[in-house]
Amino acid sequence: MTTVNTPIKIGSYTLKNRITFAPTVKFDFTDDSGVATQKLIDHYVERAKGGCGLICVEATAVVPGGRFGKNHMGLWCDEQIEGHKKITEGCHAYGCVMIIQLNHTGYTSNPECGPAIGPSAITRQGFRGEYTTVEMSVEEIHAMQQAFVDAAVRAKKAGYDGVQFHGCHGYLINQFMSPNTNFRTDAYGGSAENRARFCTEMMEKVRELCGPEFLISIRTSGCEDTLEEAIAMAEEYVKAGCEYLQVSSGLSSLDSVKPYKDEKVSDIQSLGVYFKEHFKGRVPVSCVGGLTTPEQVEYLIEKEYIDTVDVARAILADPEFANAVAEHKEYTKCFGCQACQYGPFTQHKCPAEIVRLRK
Ligand SMILES: Cc1cc2nc3c(=O)[nH]c(=O)nc-3n(C[C@H](O)[C@H](O)[C@H](O)COP(=O)(O)O)c2cc1C
Repeated sequence: MTTVNTPIKIGSYTLKNRITFAPTVKFDFTDDSGVATQKLIDHYVERAKGGCGLICVEATAVVPGGRFGKNHMGLWCDEQIEGHKKITEGCHAYGCVMIIQLNHTGYTSNPECGPAIGPSAITRQGFRGEYTTVEMSVEEIHAMQQAFVDAAVRAKKAGYDGVQFHGCHGYLINQFMSPNTNFRTDAYGGSAENRARFCTEMMEKVRELCGPEFLISIRTSGCEDTLEEAIAMAEEYVKAGCEYLQVSSGLSSLDSVKPYKDEKVSDIQSLGVYFKEHFKGRVPVSCVGGLTTPEQVEYLIEKEYIDTVDVARAILADPEFANAVAEHKEYTKCFGCQACQYGPFTQHKCPAEIVRLRK
């Protein structure tokens, strides 16, 4: 039987277990330089020590204009490599596979950092009140792709085992994927193949420059604007060299996705589970969303609904969560309060963490 502790091969790497720490931005752990601080390095090493099979380091900006705010980490210049090297060295010491999520916020970029750019001009509400986004020219698309590729090359130099393209939660890659925000009539818009092209071209280039062992993955929207279209785009990613699919939500509502046959699987988790049914035996798939107890994690893995589980808030609340699941140990449970969902403008603290540190 597959258990949480059954190793799994992902690309050229073997994860010691099925629990991955989902990317989670820590806004106040860096400054305008985008360099990882010691606080951020310690944050990840603590979680690697806590038993995660893989850590995907938080959404990291590939250019300063694509940040959530001025206290958001980057990999847009060589000076940022050293801090990342400390993260990878510290985490590798605990046998944790390390990847980093590369991102540009696109039309949701922070006005303090850069213009609201995207695949098409659309009028929307956001940080800036009501505003119209700027459609990227083909030259701008190519320059942006180069920025992602350059960041991937820096990630390799920093010792990461691979990269993850951030293709969900409404940021730039997701904006290209969605037919509701991408109205282009050129090679980057229209069919699923074309809407995936912004990312597939980057994946191909990363494979060429970073070699066959470098893990290329995507955290993709599992519904854009249907499950079937999202799977069609994921097929393009796999053709372009993607070896691991982490599935989350995107710009489309999940209304068109039929509830999973097992009601213990939530709608957001079901996206990953449907992907796993489709990609079974070809590409490992993870799901995410509300996994805060060992029982939930064990259920999804032991039923073989999913290959790996991606856990965010439970591991923020207690870095030892993965060890607690693997070894049936005590842990401090996430309150599910959302206090950690802070943005660049607020700095709320996790109450579970406060409780844990008092113990
Ligand atoms: C503080 C915080 C920061 C997050 N940052 C990111 C991020 O950088 N990239 C990303 O893809 N998702 C990010 N997310 C979403 C989580 O990775 C995850 O998908 C979501 O929290 C649901 O999982 P959970 O129920 O285990 O928390 C963030 C979530 C939180 C709470």
